[in-house]
Amino acid sequence: VRVLVLNGPNLNLLGQREPGVYGCLTLAELEARCRSYGEALGLQVECAQSNHEGVLIDHLHAWGAAHRSGQALGVVFNPGAYTHTSIALHDAIKGVEPLPVIEVHLSNVHAREPFRHHSWVAPVAAGSIIGLGVEGYLLALQALAWRAGLRTK
Ligand code: DQA
Repeated sequence: VRVLVLNGPNLNLLGQREPGVYGCLTLAELEARCRSYGEALGLQVECAQSNHEGVLIDHLHAWGAAHRSGQALGVVFNPGAYTHTSIALHDAIKGVEPLPVIEVHLSNVHAREPFRHHSWVAPVAAGSIIGLGVEGYLLALQALAWRAGLRTK
């Protein structure tokens, strides 16, 4: 079963970007961990990253269509700073319902600047996992596997 791990703006800089906040794992390492954890859950994990809001929306539309035709389980999505600004992402997720989209943030956005406390994605996400680093992505994959009734370790 196919699952998308989608990362938004600036997450291509993981490993070098504010390591005190985001850790020293690179995006490639994060994606590799998602792939191998997903494999153990019976998931085929595909990964994408974009710094462009419209490209993220295109991914959501494509995965919404795949989900409608029974070819995709859901999306694990870290929208980066677009979380706090993007009504377009909110509308896109709403527009591809019932595709389950799980919002993930590496850092605990609620313990940071007030402008990170609001999420336009949270009200339309299946759920949100915040502040648990890369493990949050793995928990989100586990949640998608559970929803699909796949056997988990
Ligand atoms: C982030 C939190 C956002 O506020 C920030 O803009 C990011 C990363 C996180 O994973 O903690 O780019 O989504």
